[in-house]
Amino acid sequence: MFLNHLTLLNYKNIASKSFDFTSKINCFVGKNGVGKTNILDAIYHLAYGKSYFNPLSTQNIKHEEDFFLLDGVFIKNSKEEKISCSIKRGQKKIIKRNNKIYERLSEHIGFIPLVIISPSDSDLIIEGSEIRRKFIDTVISTLDHHYLNQLIQYQKLITQRNALLKYFALNQTFDKDNLAIYDEQLAPLGKIIFDKRQHFLNEFTPIFQKYHTHITNQNEKVQLVYQSQLMNSSMIELFHQNLSKDRALQYTSNGIHKDDLSFEIEGYPIKKFGSQGQQKSFLIALKLAQFEFIKKESGELPILLFDDIFDKLDETRVEKIISMVNDAVFGQIFISDTHTERTESIIKSTHQSYTLFNL
Ligand SMILES: Nc1ncnc2c1ncn2[C@@H]1O[C@H](COP(=O)(O)OP(=O)(O)O)[C@@H](O)[C@H]1O
Ligand SMILES: [Mg+2]
Repeated sequence: MFLNHLTLLNYKNIASKSFDFTSKINCFVGKNGVGKTNILDAIYHLAYGKSYFNPLSTQNIKHEEDFFLLDGVFIKNSKEEKISCSIKRGQKKIIKRNNKIYERLSEHIGFIPLVIISPSDSDLIIEGSEIRRKFIDTVISTLDHHYLNQLIQYQKLITQRNALLKYFALNQTFDKDNLAIYDEQLAPLGKIIFDKRQHFLNEFTPIFQKYHTHITNQNEKVQLVYQSQLMNSSMIELFHQNLSKDRALQYTSNGIHKDDLSFEIEGYPIKKFGSQGQQKSFLIALKLAQFEFIKKESGELPILLFDDIFDKLDETRVEKIISMVNDAVFGQIFISDTHTERTESIIKSTHQSYTLFNL
């Protein structure tokens, strides 16, 4: 599967641009701020229906403009697939496949398997648990169509439960049966999501560890430790145990919406104890494992977006990674970098077909 052609209109700083791509290596080079990352994000947007960097869709519209439009022509199983994504200020986002509008975004997720590696991945280590849940959820959603709908449904019920808790507090009232209506629907959904996350991490962790060893040439013990309140209690037990707390807080303080993933090296959290270099290796292993996992489960070669490729890797490692295109480990790759010569010399050494776009 690969992206053959891309058109952008009013997407972030790009007024209008069109590209024809090779099915192998594509590079965007140019100074900081020209829009390299924005173009990669446009490709991400076509695959996931949203920006990787800015989830507020209207902020992806070029300043002073009224809409953006992205058009991509992908070749999948030797067939042309036209995916378009557009939004007008004040209106709903529209995603189409071959001119037919999707009713739900979840129907599209997974159709274009794609993995992005970017300097902002460091947020996965630095930031709160939400971004790590999003990482897990993105990978599972790519492979499991029901998962995203189950998550959306769960979140909807949590919002309603929270509104009810707020109503109780505001009106100094309480109705056990009314709350139970939500608890009884949340419990089975929460359990399904918990099981899927746990199953995913069991399969994913060994792949991650393999890549980590491969990249670092060392045998540091790295772990992805799934932390969920559902490890020790059922959702119903959690709701019962925390009833007075939830009533006081006026929101649902327990459940799979609080799950986290602890990134550990030699048993210690990498956020506190990992060096810069260890953190970078950890993140790149995580993303390459995502690539291999999706490939293994879907049978398709995901598109790989490598933003600021020299940010995480030195030249030897970049060469090693790029050469993996030769061994058919990777399919189509998009790379961005600020130095034309540096990029070109490494890519030439792979003897693969490539296109270089000077922005
Ligand atoms: N909605 C928007 N409208 C106009 N410009 C935008 C918008 N969002 C981001 N930008 C601009 O895009 C530029 C950054 O582009 P980027 O792709 O990150 O550059 P780089 O080539 O360094 O990767 C910045 O100058 C930023 O202000
Ligand atoms: Mg950039």
